[in-house]
Amino acid sequence: MSEKVLKPGTLRPEIAVVLGTRPGIVMFAPVIHALRRRGAEHFVIHTGQHYSPNMDLQFFEDLELPPPDFRLEGIAEKLTHGSQTAAMLEGVERILMQRRPQMVLVGGDANTNLAGALAARKLGIRVGHVEAGERSYDWRMPEEHNRRMIDHISDYLFITSPKSRAHLDREAVQGQIVETGNPIVDASIQHLAIAMRRFGDSVARQFSPGSYAIMTAHREENVDYPERLRGMLSGAEKVAKNLGIRVVFPAHPRTQKRLEEFGLAGWARGLAGMEVREGAGYLEFLAFLASARLVMTDSGGVQQEACIHRIPCITMRENTEWVETLEIGANRLVGTDPEKIASGAVEALQTKVDWRIPFGDGHAADHIVDFVISKVDL
Ligand code: UD1
Ligand code: UDP
Repeated sequence: MSEKVLKPGTLRPEIAVVLGTRPGIVMFAPVIHALRRRGAEHFVIHTGQHYSPNMDLQFFEDLELPPPDFRLEGIAEKLTHGSQTAAMLEGVERILMQRRPQMVLVGGDANTNLAGALAARKLGIRVGHVEAGERSYDWRMPEEHNRRMIDHISDYLFITSPKSRAHLDREAVQGQIVETGNPIVDASIQHLAIAMRRFGDSVARQFSPGSYAIMTAHREENVDYPERLRGMLSGAEKVAKNLGIRVVFPAHPRTQKRLEEFGLAGWARGLAGMEVREGAGYLEFLAFLASARLVMTDSGGVQQEACIHRIPCITMRENTEWVETLEIGANRLVGTDPEKIASGAVEALQTKVDWRIPFGDGHAADHIVDFVISKVDL
């Protein structure tokens, strides 16, 4: 009989980490470093979802990570959610069957994480979900589908704040909820000084501190719609003009592709005050963010990083998972309407920057690893 579910007694005392996207590499960097420090047996599977050097290798280098133990091939060619998730599910399952770890860790809400969690669940391997319980309640978002499914098939749900526990309690999830904080926060705090040493001068030579906004945009429900993508960029142009600053926009490859497809690339590059660039590496981006006057984004990670480094933020979405940043005045939802973006930026700059960081104690990775080690027979 072929093996479909792995018998518990046949599993090895090892932890598998599944990652494959830019924010996933950032999130798991402190966790992998903590596993290494503790001498805990582990291996890393890269799903290949992100593959361009500035979305992948640069992050391993900046975060001083060894290369992944496994890397799936052929994922970049999968262009739909279903085919991409399916190929990663099959690829991760193959590796898990061979290595037979006792636990698999996934983090966040990308297709990579659904694939990793589902592969493990089906094989009978325990699943830990980092950044569990986040909700936007926006059913258009592929991330909202993924995180709900992952949370319901996880054994251990590592949450960033009590708010996530309330979401999970309401949905009556099966697994154990553990409040640890978010390792994205650990990474950002730990790397600020390194980022400034490496890139502070070069950023300052280009733009004096406080003379620019840093912008990111990549959400599918924003950039795949020409009117919303155009709205974000027109809003950025207004911000630059009204505030007399520049807007530096390291563009995600998805966004660059959409700008080309919609015939907007030349227009975007020509907007007054805009600097459209290639996506930046982790350390360079952090150096840019830390000296910015304002952050403009639709990214989950960047909303948190703006809050941590106390840079006022406007979020070009209708909703956010990171509601605590709204509550403390660190962030504002402005959508993709240019007028709202412009007025939101003015308001954001009037906020007193004295908020308390609402994301744990900056040692989330240690808390996660302590817990994981207590559950695995290492
Ligand atoms: C994915 C996640 C999103 C996360 C984001 C982080 C899902 C459903 N979405 O979105 O939650 O916020 O990663 O950045 O999993 N591309 C490249 N090079 C790359 C990666 C992507 O050129 O290294 C281009 C390809 O044209 C690709 C497109 O970007 O088809 C979209 O990539 P994909 O990984 O499907 O989704 P993201 O938009 O990156
Ligand atoms: N980031 C980066 N370079 C960039 C844009 C973002 O290093 O040009 C980092 C950012 O600091 C954060 C992470 O990428 O740690 C966020 O990833 P992204 O915005 O792609 O995804 P999300 O967090 O929305 O899932």
